Amino acid sequence: MTHPIFILNGPNLNLLGSREPDIYGRTTLTEIEALCRDTAGPLKLSVDFRQTNHEGVLVDWLHEADALGAKAVLLNAAAYTHTSIALLDAIKAIAVPVIEVHLSDPSMREDFRHLSYVGMAAALTVEGLGAQSYINALKHAAQM
Ligand code: DQA
Repeated sequence: MTHPIFILNGPNLNLLGSREPDIYGRTTLTEIEALCRDTAGPLKLSVDFRQTNHEGVLVDWLHEADALGAKAVLLNAAAYTHTSIALLDAIKAIAVPVIEVHLSDPSMREDFRHLSYVGMAAALTVEGLGAQSYINALKHAAQM
């Protein structure tokens, strides 16, 4: 259990459950965290699950994950996915593999969601499965 998996969540994901449920479902972020912990336990993984609305905090947490020797990072950067060169640079700067995660499938939505800076550097992308995207990503992280 020495190398944790960081699960980092970006802006507005604290509002999951009530936020645009037709797109994101009714599962809250607290419930997603519980699902991740349920999955991580039998896989003998420890999980550090966080959410912030601030881009620079995500950058700091990516650096922290690397410094702590995390096994992998699951990153749902939310809207920063589509805008943040800072996140792209951070992912490229660290050794820990980053798995891009989305509840929805951004490629099936508005044009401005088709560009993913995170995806340019991520080891893998898991999207479009709702909360299950996190679970599938965690199972991939266990193999890394
Ligand atoms: C999201 C997709 C993004 O386009 C959006 O800005 C989000 C959530 C997802 O999980 O489906 O906030 O990352």
